[in-house]
Amino acid sequence: MSLEEKFKLLEENNRLAELGGGEERIARQHAAGRKTARERIEELLDPGTFVELDKFVVHRTTDFEMDKQKYLGDGVVSGYGKIDGRLVYVFAQDFTVFGGSLSRANADKIVKVMDLAMRMGAPVIGLNDSGGARIQEGVESLGGYADIFYRNVMSSGVIPQISAILGPCAGGAVYSPAITDFILMVKDSSYMFVTGPDVIKTVTHEEVTKDELGGAFTHNSKSGVAHLMADDDTMAMLMIRELLSFLPSNNLEDPPVKICTDPINREDEILQTFVPDDPNKPYDMREVITTIVDDNNFFEIQPYFAENILIGFARLNGKPVGIVANQPAVLAGVLDINASTKAARFVRFCDAFNIPLITFVDVPGFLPGTEQEFGGIIRHGAKLLYAFAEATVPKITVITRKAYGGAYDVMSSKHIGADINYAWPTAEIAVMGPEGAVNIIYKNKLTEVERQKAVEDYKRTFASPYKAASLGYIDEIILPKQTRRRLIQALEMAETKSKSNPPRKHGNIPL
Ligand code: HXC
Repeated sequence: MSLEEKFKLLEENNRLAELGGGEERIARQHAAGRKTARERIEELLDPGTFVELDKFVVHRTTDFEMDKQKYLGDGVVSGYGKIDGRLVYVFAQDFTVFGGSLSRANADKIVKVMDLAMRMGAPVIGLNDSGGARIQEGVESLGGYADIFYRNVMSSGVIPQISAILGPCAGGAVYSPAITDFILMVKDSSYMFVTGPDVIKTVTHEEVTKDELGGAFTHNSKSGVAHLMADDDTMAMLMIRELLSFLPSNNLEDPPVKICTDPINREDEILQTFVPDDPNKPYDMREVITTIVDDNNFFEIQPYFAENILIGFARLNGKPVGIVANQPAVLAGVLDINASTKAARFVRFCDAFNIPLITFVDVPGFLPGTEQEFGGIIRHGAKLLYAFAEATVPKITVITRKAYGGAYDVMSSKHIGADINYAWPTAEIAVMGPEGAVNIIYKNKLTEVERQKAVEDYKRTFASPYKAASLGYIDEIILPKQTRRRLIQALEMAETKSKSNPPRKHGNIPL
């Protein structure tokens, strides 16, 4: 073979690998409103930065005449590149090759980038579009999955792991994403289920569509499996880029700082007006957050799940923070099972990756009822308490209105290690609301006039921030409009925080 022929052969092999499962299947992928694996990577990474690995890997199966069907790359495109100039590793399953199913060879490619990512301390982004285990391979494919799961677990809390679900993901294809930090799904084109509608029909006789069972809306609003929802593949890639802008590359780094052009002393009068006079009236905590943070930019996580609590990333003076906030506009901001687990996982993520926690509190307590008690609110609520208590990143709390009962303790109180606790003058910090307290203390012994007076007395004495401030549980009572400045000052003060928990193999969070 001449030199020229050798170069040509390489070009031809590259062309073949880039064709994946062929033009017809690519056209089918496009007709379904989806991009190909390579197109997705192009959109995800900074232009021209993708370096592909293992482009010529093929499967080694001979059963089912598979030796006659080989595609260069074997259904996954993998390698590394940059996002905002920072190194990331990526793998994208190629649905045009055996439905993106996982073969042994294909798993080895994914394992390779995961190992490199751990060695270099950089995030891994998985673009999932896969029919699960390669059925023709059997246990070799299962072994491949387990190798990936194991690495997902070992990487957890060391490097950020982000999963986009961009097509039908069944069986093993959903468990690796489940162990990663964030799952993003695309409306009307992505599905996740352990067993699909046909199996469900056979086993439980339930009739359910693919979308109802495991579509983007189901997992973003009902199950809480997914964290973000995009309208299409392009938006999904932009959302991953934005998410990464808040995160460090690994647990030994601090999150990236942006130049802040939003005045740090900005005082918005509108903040003085959010909490209504009537304590039973709701208001939107999201507006409080967006008013306070840099450029009003709050990148919310799980906005459609357990909407009674808000979680997400923002910046204060250019530095990323994780925000946890009760949402009085939904179920009065009560803590229930889903709100507790949603926030607990987020708190642990922020703590693992050195992202300070800002907590806004307006919570009437835990949700009463048999559904919650039978569902295990005791152990699920305990998760949030545990997560806040074990977190060693700077923790700053602002009580805007209610901080009642056990929920006061749970929501990053001074007692479980918050560094600075503020309250607005509208704060009510007490064991319970005035009406409930008077009913319990005096039972039915009071006339209506006496009862009203007792409620007023209770309000004055307990339903305010002053008792807590007199005990040092609140460091300062601040005007709402001063919150941005005070949070930035507290973060700056806590920058050198050095706190670690007792040495141990690991704690035992109530699961
Ligand atoms: C091999 C597969 C495949 C698989 C799909 N294909 N899934 N090949 N192994 N698991 C191939 C198809 O044969 C087809 O090949 C091409 O991919 C596209 O598939 P279609 O069925 O035509 O596409 P669509 O109608 O969009 O349906 C997609 C799908 C469906 C919902 C994913 O293909 C499906 O249900 N696949 C099987 C899912 C499954 O049961 N996986 C195993 C789970 S068990 P051609 O040549 O026609 O293009 C598992 C165990 C791991 O994962 C557990 C670890 C904990």
